[in-house]
Amino acid sequence: MKETLLKIREDALSAISAPDADLEAIRIRYLGKKGELTAVLRGMGQLTAEERPVIGQIANEVREAIEKELGAKAEAQKAEALNKSLIAEKLDVTVPGTAVNVGHVHPIARIQREMEEIFIGMGFDIVEGPEIEYDYYNFQALNIPPDHPARDTQDTFYISENILLRTQTSSVQARTMETRKPPIRIVSPGRVYRSDAVDATHSPLFHQMEGLVIDRGVTMGNLKGALEMFAQTMFGADTRVRFRPHHFPFTEPSAEVDVSCFACGGKGCRLCKGEGWIEILGAGMVHPNVLTMGGIDPNEYSGFAFGMGIERIAMLKYHIDDMRHLYENDVRFLKQF
Ligand code: DAH
Repeated sequence: MKETLLKIREDALSAISAPDADLEAIRIRYLGKKGELTAVLRGMGQLTAEERPVIGQIANEVREAIEKELGAKAEAQKAEALNKSLIAEKLDVTVPGTAVNVGHVHPIARIQREMEEIFIGMGFDIVEGPEIEYDYYNFQALNIPPDHPARDTQDTFYISENILLRTQTSSVQARTMETRKPPIRIVSPGRVYRSDAVDATHSPLFHQMEGLVIDRGVTMGNLKGALEMFAQTMFGADTRVRFRPHHFPFTEPSAEVDVSCFACGGKGCRLCKGEGWIEILGAGMVHPNVLTMGGIDPNEYSGFAFGMGIERIAMLKYHIDDMRHLYENDVRFLKQF
């Protein structure tokens, strides 16, 4: 019996030592309820009283030896499996990464926000108006009656006889006077439409920002101060502002406003076409007719207004020489901003 037990131990240990040993199968075969060791123990009843404890002790030792070896081998197999997977799944942290393409704000929107921030800083509210507009707000309320020649300069998309795509954000001036009481201090950014052929400086859809200030005692000096502040924040602290007499139907007096060239400081360069000055907007004192139509008494209140193209400001600031780049959405172009 002792020999049988020792043989079981030897067989079991040798089975366990095989490289791919199936430990569970070995356990069942030798230690299981129907296993070889159990079978031997069942025969113990036939032993003498002296033999029994001796054989019993040997059987226990055999069991313990097999269990210990099974445990050790199980640990070794686990460690080996882990090692294998570590080698197979090794990460090379020095491999160059793949850049993630992150979108960002379009240059027009970016400049628009920058402009809004500047005017908000001066106490202006942002007000928006509809792009599909009545002829009345786009023209008539701005002192441009039906037969006025100024209509010819703005090639208008008409939807019906009295509804159109607004040609200028000045329409929001007229609307605001109807809904707000002075003091009024607003800027109004948004899309405008003109039936222009596309080229480097024209597009049938572009963006403007309108400004309107109405209060008692507002003067041209206030207009100059506000625009100078805007220009210096936008283009640099050394920027100077110049007013040239002009005509707009909704302002009197009216001016076109230039800034000193921020690329050359006024000496003359490619950006300012040798002029030293760059035109950026139209402005003036709100015409008494416009105030009256807006329900505001021109004897009590005065105001100034201005309007500028957002693309124009973006093109100047970013040195973009063709407006079409802003609309074609070529990511190689957009990525630069
Ligand atoms: N609406 C004018 C345009 O589209 C720009 C403009 C000029 C707006 C003078 C004004 C202004 O408010 O006072 O060309």
